[in-house]
Formats: sequence, structure tokens, C-alpha cells
Amino acid sequence: MIYRLISTAGQYGSEWRCGKRLGMDFSIRDATDADVGPMTEIYNALLETTTIEWTEELHTVEERLAWQHAQAEADLPVLVAVDADDRVIGWTTYGPFRDNAKWPGYRFTAEHSVHVDGAASGRGVGRALVEELLVRAEAAGIRVMIAAIDGANIGSVRFHERLGFVTVGELREVGFKHDTWLDLVLMQRTLAEREIDR
Ligand SMILES: CC(C)(COP(=O)(O)OP(=O)(O)OC[C@H]1O[C@@H](n2cnc3c(N)ncnc32)[C@H](O)[C@@H]1OP(=O)(O)O)[C@@H](O)C(=O)NCCC(=O)NCCS
Repeated sequence: MIYRLISTAGQYGSEWRCGKRLGMDFSIRDATDADVGPMTEIYNALLETTTIEWTEELHTVEERLAWQHAQAEADLPVLVAVDADDRVIGWTTYGPFRDNAKWPGYRFTAEHSVHVDGAASGRGVGRALVEELLVRAEAAGIRVMIAAIDGANIGSVRFHERLGFVTVGELREVGFKHDTWLDLVLMQRTLAEREIDR
């Protein structure tokens, strides 16, 4: 079987990777155990007041540490953005889109999440995180990255559009939080056109 890959990762990037944008120095690196505390804080910051994440339970550092170890075990990247003092200001990761063990046909597709500290938003941090994640994903053989976004989270939809994701569907009232039915917007970006020659 011959695979041919035509890369598109990085195509929508701008000056970011270890850079200064809008007056802020930051860089992207792999997360360590020591980062889990601030990552959890960023994750929890909007959880109680918004429907960005469909749970009402705050995450704990212990749970997130176990999750981070499981990601490492599965060879899945967890990236953080850090400021000039190495303070965590955002993080991103990806995992299976659906159950790859049960349905291996989904193994070239992944779903990501990205969270930026509100104080650092609008400065290119989210873009830098996701662009680096997409480079890692493509190198790992992922062909399509999915963003599954709460329908009320218009900011995230606009953010993903700027990164080259396109809306491919909307599932109506599939979530429930704060006594409200929630819609799910599905966006995708194809990273590499994979042709299979049998
Ligand atoms: C969505 C989120 C990750 C964006 O991160 P960010 O660091 O603020 O975004 P950036 O500064 O890197 O913006 C990248 C691009 O998206 C655009 N963008 C970002 N947020 C936007 C918004 N709310 N509305 C419109 N455009 C937006 C920027 O203008 C920028 O465009 P450009 O690079 O082409 O000039 C961040 O706001 C966040 O963590 N939100 C809360 C958690 C969340 O919603 N996560 C996603 C769950 S699906």
C-alpha cells in the first residue's frame, strides 16, 4: 500500500511559533507534570459560567495528571504556551475522534481541544498552540482534525475559521447544561490529502 501525503499543515500560520505578537513573548512546548496545576485552572475558569464544556463538575489536578499520563502512554501530544517567565497561558491536545479500537476506520481522524488564559487571549496564543498541534498530528499520520464546539461559543467558531477549519455540520440539542439544550457545531480541517494506492 502506498500513501502519498500532500501537506497543508502550517498553511494558515502567521508569525507565532516562538515569538512576539502584539507585545507578548510566548513559546510553545510539551507539557510537564508541573504544568498540570495551571492548565487545570485555565480549563476550569469558564466551566461554571459558560457552556463551553459540557460538564458541571470542576476538574481536579489529580484527574488531569492521570489524564496527561494516559495521553503520554498513547503517544498523544499535550502542548502548553508559556510566557517569558515560563508561566502557562494556554494548552492544547488531541485524541481519537471516535473509538479507534472499536472502529479502526476512524484512526486517521482526531479531535482537539484548546484553552487560553482569558488574560492572554487575542494575542495569537491559541493560533500558535493549534498550528503546532496540527504539525504534530500530521507527522503522526492524522489526516483530518475535528473541532466539536458548543453552538453558543461563536468566538471559538470564528477562531477555528481563521485557522482554516470549515463548518461541516450542526447537531441540534445533543447536549444539556444549565437547564438548556445545547447544539454542537462540527468543524474540520484536512491536514494531508492521503491517497491510497492498492
Ligand atoms: C478560542 C480561543 C482558544 C482563542 O484563543 P486566542 O489566543 O484568544 O486566539 P488568537 O489570538 O490566537 O486568535 C487567532 C485568530 O482567531 C481570531 N479570533 C480569536 N478569537 C476570536 C473571537 N472571539 N472572535 C473572532 N475572531 C477570533 C483572531 O482574530 C485571530 O485571527 P488572525 O490570527 O487571523 O488575526 C480562546 O479564546 C479560548 O481559550 N476560549 C475559551 C475556551 C474555548 O472556547 N476553547 C475552544 C473550545 S472548542
